[in-house]
Amino acid sequence: MTPTLDHMIAAAPAPRRPWHATVLTIFPEMFPGPLGQSLAGKASEAGIWTLEAIDIRDYATDRHRTVDDAPFGGGVGMVMRPDVTDAALAGVDDRPGPAIYLSPRGRTLDQARVRALAAGPGVKLLCGRFEGLDQRVIDARGLEEVSLGDFVLSGGEPAAIALIDACVRLLPGVIGDAGALAEESFALGADAGLLEYPHYTRPALWQGRAVPEVLLSGHHEKIRLWRREQAEQATRARRPDLWRRHTELKN
Ligand SMILES: C[S@@+](CC[C@H](N)C(=O)[O-])C[C@H]1O[C@@H](n2cnc3c(N)ncnc32)[C@H](O)[C@@H]1O
Repeated sequence: MTPTLDHMIAAAPAPRRPWHATVLTIFPEMFPGPLGQSLAGKASEAGIWTLEAIDIRDYATDRHRTVDDAPFGGGVGMVMRPDVTDAALAGVDDRPGPAIYLSPRGRTLDQARVRALAAGPGVKLLCGRFEGLDQRVIDARGLEEVSLGDFVLSGGEPAAIALIDACVRLLPGVIGDAGALAEESFALGADAGLLEYPHYTRPALWQGRAVPEVLLSGHHEKIRLWRREQAEQATRARRPDLWRRHTELKN
């Protein structure tokens, strides 16, 4: 039976709501920043995702819009007040997705977590400043803590931008060629958990350095095997931790 338009509409998946990123920050003017450009910028214009940057200072209760205070027990720096940050979080309770505090003490962000966040309705990101956030808000709200890596940024904003960028590029319709996602580092599938193979483009000879012969052969299977071998070699040499996980997954 030839499907009618009514059949097709009934069978079509419900249109997905835009993926929504809510960012709590004392520097809302840092957003969208790089997220307004290139892939993420175009995807936002296309209505695939939306961004809301909320000023934590709007939840301060004093004339000076204070969000921080000196640490109990002494020591350097200032700490973000629990009452103000909690009020800011309460103000976005109805926004979609888990609430995450960006922190060097958190679990390091990886592609598996990015995939899970991108598959959900969105994310709420709390950007720390100063020495960080009063521990009681983290405990009271059971905030997930996510780190970008073993280094210290001056604030959570660059980490929030990186996390959002990593999620947005996975949203359906953002990258035209889904094959590009399937082949990159940390992808799922046959190459699960491997770093990507190296890339080459024109000119074929540059500063006396030639492109690997096999890439000019036009032999798809040989190219596939060469790339696979390169991905394995790079992962084994550079990331023994990923290599171990990859071999465990295979066995
Ligand atoms: C100067 S840092 C605070 C560092 C903290 N006193 C420490 O030693 O762990 C200020 C804020 O930047 C953000 N930040 C710094 N490094 C980060 C990282 N590696 N990943 C995610 N966020 C980070 C956090 O939001 C943090 O609250």
